[in-house]
Amino acid sequence: MSTIAVYPGSFDPITFGHLDIAARAASMFDELHILVVHNPGKEPRFSLEQRVALIEASLKETKLPVGAKIVVSTLPSGLLVDYCRRVSAGALVKGIRTNVDLDYELPMARVNRDLAGVETVFIPADPGFGHISSSLVKQVSDLGGQVTKYVPGPVALALASASA
Ligand code: PNS
Repeated sequence: MSTIAVYPGSFDPITFGHLDIAARAASMFDELHILVVHNPGKEPRFSLEQRVALIEASLKETKLPVGAKIVVSTLPSGLLVDYCRRVSAGALVKGIRTNVDLDYELPMARVNRDLAGVETVFIPADPGFGHISSSLVKQVSDLGGQVTKYVPGPVALALASASA
């Protein structure tokens, strides 16, 4: 039986930190779904469709295997575990940078296991990416700073035109 995992998040926008987690998760499972989820608690910079396009362009630029191995999809509403059921995924993947991430993620992991028996695999962020977040990248770009160290080319371009 093939192992399928879902890597959910806002990805507003995707960063090199996210891509590192995706690459490492893709080496652990037969199929990985990068799932762009609408988070009602956040006001997004990019639409779900724009975020998918940026992820696909970033996967191409970083030569990650988009297609059979890595699928990019959206969840505009509904429960994450229902998406997992639809695609027969048994695990969720989350990247952990600090204990703040862990405090935020642990209750969600327990709820998802309660709801549907879906386990969460926590992958520790590479220290080189530990300080990168989508919100900081947006702030730096909006204030005229360089973000090419933090995000792939297509994302840096999209941020520059969004804040122009
Ligand atoms: O990148 P984010 O915004 O921190 O990601 C949070 C996200 C989208 C993974 C989280 O909000 C989520 O799981 N939403 C799906 C709704 C859901 O299933 N909620 C109940 C279980 S936590």
